[in-house]
Amino acid sequence: MDYAVEMLGIRKEFPGVVANDDITLQLKRGEIHALLGENGAGKSTLMGILFGMYQADRGTIRVNGKEVRIANPNVANRLGIGMVHQHFKLVDTFTVTENIILGSENSRWGFVLDTRSASRRIAELSRRYGLNVDPDAKIEDISVGMQQRVEILKMLYRNADVLILDEPTAVLTPQEIQELGAILKNLIQEDKSIILITHKLKEIKAFADRCTVIRRGKTVGTVEVAAASEAAMAEMMVGRQVSFKVEKKPASPGDAVLQIDSLSVKNNKQVLGLNGVSLEVRSGEIVGIAGVEGNGQSELVEAVTGLRKTESGGIRLKGKDISGLSIRDRNESGIGHIPEDRHKRGLVLDYTLAENMVLEVYHRDPFSRNGILNKSAIRSYAERIIGSYDVRSGQGAASVARSLSGGNQQKAVIGREIEGDPDLLIAVQPTRGLDVGSIEYIHKRLIEHRDRGKAVLLISLELDEVLNVSDRIAVLNNGELIGVVEASETNENELGLMMAGVRKGETA
Ligand SMILES: Nc1ncnc2c1ncn2[C@@H]1O[C@H](COP(=O)(O)OP(=O)(O)OP(=O)(O)O)[C@@H](O)[C@H]1O
Ligand SMILES: [Mg+2]
Repeated sequence: MDYAVEMLGIRKEFPGVVANDDITLQLKRGEIHALLGENGAGKSTLMGILFGMYQADRGTIRVNGKEVRIANPNVANRLGIGMVHQHFKLVDTFTVTENIILGSENSRWGFVLDTRSASRRIAELSRRYGLNVDPDAKIEDISVGMQQRVEILKMLYRNADVLILDEPTAVLTPQEIQELGAILKNLIQEDKSIILITHKLKEIKAFADRCTVIRRGKTVGTVEVAAASEAAMAEMMVGRQVSFKVEKKPASPGDAVLQIDSLSVKNNKQVLGLNGVSLEVRSGEIVGIAGVEGNGQSELVEAVTGLRKTESGGIRLKGKDISGLSIRDRNESGIGHIPEDRHKRGLVLDYTLAENMVLEVYHRDPFSRNGILNKSAIRSYAERIIGSYDVRSGQGAASVARSLSGGNQQKAVIGREIEGDPDLLIAVQPTRGLDVGSIEYIHKRLIEHRDRGKAVLLISLELDEVLNVSDRIAVLNNGELIGVVEASETNENELGLMMAGVRKGETA
């Protein structure tokens, strides 16, 4: 068999956890091979080993049939292996070209390097694989989807034949995911081989040829994707059946918790990103916001949480005007926020899990008394959240947040915010990067929060999620509220039209 890469019997232990336990993964040349497993199953670790970021404690790696030792990422590059990480590693203020040549083998020759010819080669690669990237654009000016293509270009520029993509679609819009799929197919046509990590079974069905499933560090098996159903792969992954349907009783909403009145907010480009939007979220209901990314969702959330100032209009929480309050005071008044970017706003990566769980409440009783932190109260509070949200890590509450897998970081943030029992919970892309079992669980917890008489504002790019979890759905287009519909009385088609700016009752 013609394998581009074989990883055989790989073991890797971190303090307190065996991340990879005798894992075998064989990548055929010219295939898209999905790697599927729960949060913390060991996927990123395994790929880190293949890319030379970690050394395996045991096991063999073969590239093109030859046994190799991959001591560091430069060795991986030389062997034709490239990787796009779960969290991108680009320099915001540099151009595409500068980022791509940064740290590549040639740039060792110092700055004599010819940016102009590099930029030409990048443009040519971009054309060849249908990437559509402008080599001279600055990273901070391009979308996340484009940034990801830059990461792909970076691999191609270094002549990688084996491309590893760690959850590339978690940050993409549905449209961008389709485009990425087409790009991956182009790459395969040119004889590249791809390892694709994703939690979305739909994508595995659409893009991958084979799928290797791992669970708690061990290989469960490898299947031909065409012959495996989504349900079967999900069951292999979590070891039980997963329900894709969200069970919930009809809402019984009470008084308004959040009242937004003709709210206008400027975006980063200093034009109105949100324009005269009025919306109410009542206690005991979940209001979902549907919209294509960049249509005012971030401005709305940032205005309500206090991260961005408003131009005009009102924001009231339980009847009280909060538009002048600081972020901290809004939090104290009863707003919980599961932020979109868990690295920037969710967690302090160098703090322990215990410290992260009390970021917003450490100054309160019982966590601190007379100005002295009560470590054991903090630890037991954190351990309760860790247990109830199944946050897996090597050393429990004492683990440093950075050492957690991406999905487990996310579960920790969600646990902290729901556990704070806010009157208004703002959940932005709460299940991004979570495995199907965890998604099922988090959806249940959001609904429980609602059933305790709290208000939930859900912002998600996943239409399925908005439809299944929300009671009412508000649709934003170009900063304006296109309409609000009952979730039980609408469908993807109607929402799709509204997201494109067509108001209900109008025809397209
Ligand atoms: N640098 C590290 N130090 C200590 N523990 C680590 C480190 N990296 C990973 N781990 C642990 O190894 C286990 C596997 O983590 P890994 O990141 O490989 O999971 P994953 O399958 O990629 O999960 P996710 O889907 O959430 O990204 C986890 O328990 C994690 O806490
Ligand atoms: Mg990972």
